[in-house]
Amino acid sequence: MPGPRSRELWEKAQSLFPGGVNSPVRAAVKPYPFYVERAEGPYLYTVDGEKLVDYVLGYGPLILGHRHPRVEEAVREQLEKDWLYGTPAEGEIRLAEKILKYFHPGGMIRFVNSGTEATMAAIRLARGYTGRKMIIKFNGCYHGAHDAVLVAAGSAAAEYGVPSSAGVPEEVARLTLVARYNDLESVEKLMRQHGDEVAAIIVEPVAGNAGVIPPEPGFLKGLREFADTYGALLIMDEVITGFRLGLRGAQGYYGVEGDITTLGKIIGGGFPVGAIAGPRKIMENFTPSGKVFQAGTFNAHPVVMAAGYATIEVLETGEPYRVANEAAKAVTEALDEAARSAGLDYTINRVESMLQIFFTKGPVRSPEDAARSDRKLYQRLHEELLRRGVFIAPSQMEAIFTSGAHSGEAVEKTLEAIREAFRALRG
Ligand SMILES: Cc1ncc(COP(=O)(O)O)c(C=O)c1O
Repeated sequence: MPGPRSRELWEKAQSLFPGGVNSPVRAAVKPYPFYVERAEGPYLYTVDGEKLVDYVLGYGPLILGHRHPRVEEAVREQLEKDWLYGTPAEGEIRLAEKILKYFHPGGMIRFVNSGTEATMAAIRLARGYTGRKMIIKFNGCYHGAHDAVLVAAGSAAAEYGVPSSAGVPEEVARLTLVARYNDLESVEKLMRQHGDEVAAIIVEPVAGNAGVIPPEPGFLKGLREFADTYGALLIMDEVITGFRLGLRGAQGYYGVEGDITTLGKIIGGGFPVGAIAGPRKIMENFTPSGKVFQAGTFNAHPVVMAAGYATIEVLETGEPYRVANEAAKAVTEALDEAARSAGLDYTINRVESMLQIFFTKGPVRSPEDAARSDRKLYQRLHEELLRRGVFIAPSQMEAIFTSGAHSGEAVEKTLEAIREAFRALRG
């Protein structure tokens, strides 16, 4: 239970921000969110003096944990030189070369400020490139908070039962066709009807906003083939999976490449970022070389570029992946054992360092399956863990993430907390 100082801040926040927060999922911690004072490695330190093992990690970016010294050093070095120029700077070239080594080698990239901006610009690029208007997205996949993709969206949109947000004009929503994740027939049906009007298929290669749902064998390859057959582009939204499933993201992990990749989260090392990457012939359509408008005061912000570069350099050692994956495996095993002993119906999905437990018999191979699980029981698990100093996402529709800082005492504490939390759930 968050303490008195958090409560005081939460009361003030009620009058300042809609729903008390600046992004909806933050209000899902009940009865009110704890406020964080500082963080280090795998731990958050709250204003109430609590120390929590963090499995939310800023909703994905912090794959090295909080305040990794190499990232901090890179940021400090940049701050000493200034932090905004409004002209190009070398940092953006260094990070671009680093990313393009792993995604679309020989291609190009445009840096923006969030995953939302990245998918928004990627969809515009696909429309401009193909001269077509429609897109296909998947039920329960989340691609950010803009009109074209706020149709049957996951994450907080699903949690709050607002699959299509108020304020999205029907005329806009009509251009977004919705297929079912892991169901190629649903894509085929849409393509047969609208194939020559579809600019792009946009997909989360691992659905990470409906819990964690991996693609079934053949699913991504099937999307690749539909896109090719009908002359549409395949947008791989790797905002979560990029540099999480390995240096080449989900596309490297599953061996299927998109035409355009959207990135975010990890590539900014914990600072606000997004990026659109792809082959030159597509990317050159962005302004100023092409006619698809895209711009931003803060695009390729020097501090963000420095933090992202340092993060990827550390990831290249392989060590953070080893530690994060090992921690995720240990947490998965502990959840499995504890849920089984408690006699509950459950399924756990894990891909490397992202996982989620669903309170349903399973298997959970689609957001529809995920939606059938007992979300109240998940909320109780979240609360019982929080009481024992472990912070997992408050919503079943998010992922549990681990980082390269999750080892030793932090993981031991988590495993014990899991065992105790399930005993409390049963009792
Ligand atoms: C797959 C995916 N795409 C896009 C976004 C939007 O990114 P941002 O929150 O940085 O706007 C998210 C955010 O969680 C995401 O998970």
